[in-house]
Amino acid sequence: MEQRSSDRKGHGLVPGRICVVTGAATGIGRGIALALAKEGAWIAVTDINVEGAQLVAMEIEQAGGSAIAYRLDVRNREEIDAALAAVLEWSGRLDIWVNNAGVSTMNWFVDLDEDEWDFNMNTNARGVFLCSQAAARQMIAQRQGGRIISVASMAGKRGEAPFLAHYIASKFAVVGLTQAMATELVSHGILVNAVCPGYVQTSMQEREVVWESRLRGISTEAVRQSYVDDTPLARLETTEDVAKVVVFLASEYSDFMTGQAINITGGSWMH
Ligand SMILES: NC(=O)c1ccc[n+]([C@@H]2O[C@H](COP(=O)([O-])OP(=O)(O)OC[C@H]3O[C@@H](n4cnc5c(N)ncnc54)[C@H](O)[C@@H]3O)[C@@H](O)[C@H]2O)c1
Repeated sequence: MEQRSSDRKGHGLVPGRICVVTGAATGIGRGIALALAKEGAWIAVTDINVEGAQLVAMEIEQAGGSAIAYRLDVRNREEIDAALAAVLEWSGRLDIWVNNAGVSTMNWFVDLDEDEWDFNMNTNARGVFLCSQAAARQMIAQRQGGRIISVASMAGKRGEAPFLAHYIASKFAVVGLTQAMATELVSHGILVNAVCPGYVQTSMQEREVVWESRLRGISTEAVRQSYVDDTPLARLETTEDVAKVVVFLASEYSDFMTGQAINITGGSWMH
């Protein structure tokens, strides 16, 4: 069943836990990797941008943590298996898997083509399926439980946003998959939860601001302001805002939680 912190040496809320973070070269994934490392986890920093992943791993090591970087495309089962095998060689086990890698594009629903649909669904939904399956199989074999945490989105609960039909469908899939996996994996002591961020300041948001400005015919400043206006806490979200809740879901403080999708939106979405 679930491993106790007293089983392993280390400090912090996730001492010595072996953790894989996908899409961790930048943005929210980088924030999660740094926060978990600060709380004592060993981090496999993975991404299709392997140079970026290496920089994050170096940053963790320079701060006194333990990290290693691997290329891992979440759409590719062979790459997932190869990265997981390398993680096991490095650390001997897997305790926590964070599905963070994701993409977005923006378009009117009537103009969406199949390539755009497939790009979003393959990374955001199929990627979570493939990675979680690999992680769950390993955790079941270890017989000591584990945690699977996915970065869904406010768009995984809130369909009424323009230009994001394909992205919304992919993130609703992540929330549904979280509940279904939690149901099946609970007997193995594996807890499965998700977080649903709002308007987070990352390179993804920078791209979206430009697309939305074009699609709505307003300035990029006006788009950014509309995000703040839609947020009761009245500021854009930071990667640290998301990472803190992921640390909670990785720690013993969430021992009695599974199948949840927690909003971290500054109040933008309350359901
Ligand atoms: N930024 C936001 O406002 C926001 C809000 C809610 C949810 N999210 C979700 O948070 C996650 C991270 O978003 P972000 O804003 O940090 O994005 P980002 O674009 O800044 O970073 C995403 C990272 O994922 C990597 N990546 C892309 N495709 C990949 C693949 N196939 N395999 C492995 N890595 C891949 C990229 O190289 C990049 O390093 C995504 O799942 C996104 O949908 C973002």
